[in-house]
Amino acid sequence: MKDTAFYKDVLNGLQAPQKYLPSKYFYDAKGDILFQKIMEAPEYYVTNSDMEIFSNQSSQLVEAFGNYYENFDVIELGAGDAVKSTFFLKALANSGKSYTYRPIDISINIIDFLHSELPQRVAGISINGLVGEYLPALKQAYLQSSNKKLVLFLGSSIGNFEIDEAKKFLREVCNLMNPGDSILIGFDLKKNPRQILAAYNDAGGITKAFNLNLLSRINKELGADIDLDSFEHFPTYDPVTGSCRSYLISKKKQVIFITGAPKISLSQHEPIHMELSKKFSVHEIDEIATELGFQIRPYFFDKKSWYCNAIWEKK
Ligand code: AVI
Repeated sequence: MKDTAFYKDVLNGLQAPQKYLPSKYFYDAKGDILFQKIMEAPEYYVTNSDMEIFSNQSSQLVEAFGNYYENFDVIELGAGDAVKSTFFLKALANSGKSYTYRPIDISINIIDFLHSELPQRVAGISINGLVGEYLPALKQAYLQSSNKKLVLFLGSSIGNFEIDEAKKFLREVCNLMNPGDSILIGFDLKKNPRQILAAYNDAGGITKAFNLNLLSRINKELGADIDLDSFEHFPTYDPVTGSCRSYLISKKKQVIFITGAPKISLSQHEPIHMELSKKFSVHEIDEIATELGFQIRPYFFDKKSWYCNAIWEKK
């Protein structure tokens, strides 16, 4: 247990002067179900805005990619259930383009599911999934074929990185890409702060349960004794930076024991930073693309302009 990345990351986070837990660990089996429920919650506009773009504008998206006519690869980072990308893949197929869909996911169950499910959604689709972390799997995809590539990074997942990490990650993706390859990347946009805050503070308490589930995962997998009731879910939004941050606040002075680790003390009202869900302005999106050396191609918005799927091309 002590040599797992989960153990090390949890201890590093809880021993830091400003306590934090990495949000990538939200997604165990229960976390996956809770995230699915968040996406169905009325307050969580993100999925609807993003889905609207794919359901209404997929053929325009295909056109925007332009001259992909020979065999090419569509690589999706973190494919999940691929509901949004299915719209795009269907539009690609309808336009007569010939491609291989290469979903990348950390979960073999997801990749197995997509291999059996996608041919039912898109007749005749060629699919060849990769199990693994984004960058090593993307590297593998580049080693395995010299086809031109479209990379999809959807659902505003980029917003869950601190901005420097986001740029570092995208720079590494860009370094793997060949000139003329493109990336389609989803950004949640700045909007009425109350709208944003409500999305991370749903009345049904699903986001709260989603955050607390990480504590229960630590209890189960790392033999800890955290009392979930002694924490309060506290989301914040800063309209200047676009940072929507969730915290768990300790309701009382307490000590946490994790098997084999020094005890961890929390004072009353001490926060544990759980997640950043950054919101962007279009200007900021342009600046990131320019800083990383991408060529800006068309951007696609939902009707309310709450969400943006941007196309960038590697120069
Ligand atoms: C996966 N990610 C883009 C979601 C978000 O909006 O940051 C995760 C999430 N956290 C709370 N609600 C949804």
